[in-house]
Amino acid sequence: MIPKIHIIALLMLCVTTHIAAHTETSSKDEKAKDAFITSLMQKMTVEEKIAQLNLVTPTAATGPFRTMNATEKLRAGIAGNVMSVRGSTASVHKRQALFEQTRLQIPLFFGLDIIHGFKTVMPIPLGLSCAWDTLLVERTARVAALEATSMGYNWTYSPMVDISRDPRWGRVMEGSGEDPLLGSLIARAMVRGYQGDNLSSPTSLMACVKHFALYGASEAGRDYNTTDMSHMKMYQNYLPPYKAAVDAGAGSIMTSFNDIDGLPATVNHWLLNDLLRKEWGFNGFIVTDYNCIGELPAHGVAADGYEAAKKALDAGVDMDMSSEHYSTYLKTLLDRQEITLEQIDTACRRVLEAKYDLGLFDNPYKNYGTTENCILTPENISVAIEAARKSMVLLKNQNNVLPLKPDAKIALIGPAADNKFEMISMWAPDGLADSVCTIRRGLEQRTKFLSYAQGTFLSDHPWLTDGYTEEAAQQRMDEALGIARDADVIVAVLGEGRNLSGEAKSMTNISMMPCQRKLLQALKETGKPIVLLLLNGRSMTIEAEIEMADAVVDIWRPGTGAGQAVADVLYGDYNPSGKLTMTWPRSVGQIPIYYNAKNTGRPYKDGERGNFKSRYIDSPNAPLFPFGYGLSYTTFNYGDIALSDTLVVGESKTLQATIELTNTGSVSGTEIVQLYVGDPAASVTRPVKELKHFRHVTLRPGEKRKVSFTLTPEDLKFWSNDLKYDWESGLFNLFIGTNSADVKVAQFRWEKQR
Ligand code: BGC
Repeated sequence: MIPKIHIIALLMLCVTTHIAAHTETSSKDEKAKDAFITSLMQKMTVEEKIAQLNLVTPTAATGPFRTMNATEKLRAGIAGNVMSVRGSTASVHKRQALFEQTRLQIPLFFGLDIIHGFKTVMPIPLGLSCAWDTLLVERTARVAALEATSMGYNWTYSPMVDISRDPRWGRVMEGSGEDPLLGSLIARAMVRGYQGDNLSSPTSLMACVKHFALYGASEAGRDYNTTDMSHMKMYQNYLPPYKAAVDAGAGSIMTSFNDIDGLPATVNHWLLNDLLRKEWGFNGFIVTDYNCIGELPAHGVAADGYEAAKKALDAGVDMDMSSEHYSTYLKTLLDRQEITLEQIDTACRRVLEAKYDLGLFDNPYKNYGTTENCILTPENISVAIEAARKSMVLLKNQNNVLPLKPDAKIALIGPAADNKFEMISMWAPDGLADSVCTIRRGLEQRTKFLSYAQGTFLSDHPWLTDGYTEEAAQQRMDEALGIARDADVIVAVLGEGRNLSGEAKSMTNISMMPCQRKLLQALKETGKPIVLLLLNGRSMTIEAEIEMADAVVDIWRPGTGAGQAVADVLYGDYNPSGKLTMTWPRSVGQIPIYYNAKNTGRPYKDGERGNFKSRYIDSPNAPLFPFGYGLSYTTFNYGDIALSDTLVVGESKTLQATIELTNTGSVSGTEIVQLYVGDPAASVTRPVKELKHFRHVTLRPGEKRKVSFTLTPEDLKFWSNDLKYDWESGLFNLFIGTNSADVKVAQFRWEKQR
C-alpha cells in the first residue's frame, strides 16, 4: 500500500505540474494572441482602427435615436460593431455577415440586451434575486447564452449590478436589490453563466457589466440624474458587485449615464483608470452607454463633439455606443495632435483582444444555426418555471388561505391575469410572448373550478392609460364582482403594468393605480377571502392593499413559466421560499430606506416615547417589509445562537455560530437562514448590521437541524475613512434570523492579538 503522505506528495506534484503546464499554455496563448493582433493592426488604417471603436444601433430600441445608414456603415467598414439587430434568424444573420464585405473582414461584436433570458424569459432580475440562489441564476444566464448564440449574438449588456435603495427608480427591476454581498454573488453567477468556462466556446456570450458606476444612486430616483456620495460609501455599498463581476472575468464593462464627483462616468479618469484598470486589474474593454459621449455637452463638461470625444478617449473609454463621436471626430483630433495614435491603438487593441478571446476570428457566428435545438427547449422552459417559482415571495398568509384547496371555486380577476406580454418586462423584448403560459392558463390546467374576469385596467393615470375609461372600468368591475360573489376565493392579480418599470420609468408615486385599488376595495366588500398576486418591478407603497388582502404573493414579472409557477405555488405543489432583496417602504417619504442603515447618535425604536430622536413624527421608521423578508406555508422556529467562543484572538482563527432550526408547521419547507454582523464600536460609523452569510435549509414537518456558519476576519472587514479595507479588534454583534429585522442576537469579541 502507498503511504498516505506519498499519495499527497504525488497529488501535489500532479497539481504543480498541471499548474505549470497550464501557465505555460496560457502564456503561449497570450503570445499567439499578441502576435495575431499585432500583425492585424499593422495592416489596419487609422480609419479601420477607429471603426473598431464604433458601435452602431440600426434601431432606436433603447435610446433617443438610431444610427442613420447603419447597414452601409457596416458594409463600408466604418462601424466595426452593431447592436440591437432584431428579426428573423435569417435577417439577423444577414446584418451580421456584412463584415465579410469589408477589406479585413474583422468580425463584429453583435450585441443585444439579454437581461433576463432571451426567447425563454426568466423572471426579472429583481425577482430572481429573491431566490438567493446563485446556481439557479447561473443556469438562467446559461440558457440565455445558449439561445442567443444560436442566433449569432455574441455579446450581452448584462449583468446589471447597480445597487439601489430607491424604488422610485424604474430600473431597480433590472438589478438584484440593495445588498452588496448578495449583489456580488449574483453578479459573479451571471458572468459565469453567460461566459461559461471558456469564452471562445460557441455557446459563450461576452458579458458587459453595467452601469459603471453608481447609476442606482441617481438622486431622487430620477433616471439619468446625478449621483454624489462619499468614497467610503461607494467602496462599502455600491462598488462590490461591479468588482465581483470584473473578478469573475467579465470581458467588458459599460459606463453609466450619471456623473460621479462632478464628472460623468464616461469621462471620469479616476473611475475608469485608477479604480477599474489599476486597482481592480480590469483588462477587458470599456463601452459607453447609449449616446453617453454625445450627452457630455448637456452635462456641461464639453463644449462640442470634438471635446466630448477627446475627453472620453482620454478617460479610457474604448468603444462609443451609438453617438458616433469617435467615428466623426477622432481622426481630426489625431490630425490636430490633440490625441495620439497610441491612444487609438490601445483602445483598438482592447476591442480586438476581446474579439479574439471570444473566438470570433475562428468562428464569427458562434453557435449560429442551431436555434431548433437551443431555443425554448423543454429544458429551458423548466429552468424558467423553476426560476419563477423560486423568485416568488409570500408576503402574507392570514388564516392559511394559501395553499388553495383543490376543490375551491376560484374567481381569477385582473387585467394582466391572461396577458402574455405582462409576464415579461421591457427588458425581455426578444422573449416569445406566444410561448408564455399566462396565469389563467396555468390555473385552468390545475382546476376545473375557475372563472375569470379582467376586473379593471392596468392604469387610469392620464399618462399611462391602457384604454381606460370610467365606463369600461365599471363594466369590468361589475363582471368581476359577479364571479367573485359566486366563488370561494378571489385571486386578484394586480400591481403595476410592465410599462411602468424599466429604463426612464421613474415614478414619484409607487402605490397601486387608483382603478386597481378601487377594484380591490370592491372585492373586499364581497367578504370573500382575497389572495393578491402582485405583478411588479419594484417595491411598492401598498400598505392599505396588503391590509385588504388575506394572502399576498409577490410574483414579480415571472416570464415564460408564469402560469405553471403560479399554479404550483397557489396549490402548494411548491412551497414558496423567496426572500425580498429590497426593502419595501410604507411611503415614498421614507425613501431611501434600506436595512444596512446606521444607528445615528439618536437612534429610535418604533413605539418608544421620545422626542428629538431620529424618527418621523407621522410614520414608523420601520419599513412595510424588511430586507430578507418572506414567509412559507410552514413555520420555522429559531433557537438561540450558540457561539464556539465569545473571545477570539488572532487573524487566522475562525468562529462558529450555530442555531437550531425547527420546522414547526405541517408541511416541508425551505428557509433561507440569514446571518448578519454589526460592529458597534469602530473607528468609523458602521451599519447596525450587514449580511455576511446565508443558507437554504429544507426541513420536513417537525424536523430540527443545527445550522452552523463559520466566520473569519473577512466577515469583519470594512472600508475605513482613508479607504483601507481591514477589520478592527473589538466587540461585534451577530444576528441570525428569518429576515433582517427578526433576528436572534449574540455578541463576541475578536482581537488581533492580546
Ligand atoms: C441602457 C443600457 C442598455 C443600452 C443598450 C441604454 O439605454 O441604459 O442598459 O444596455 O441602452 O440597449
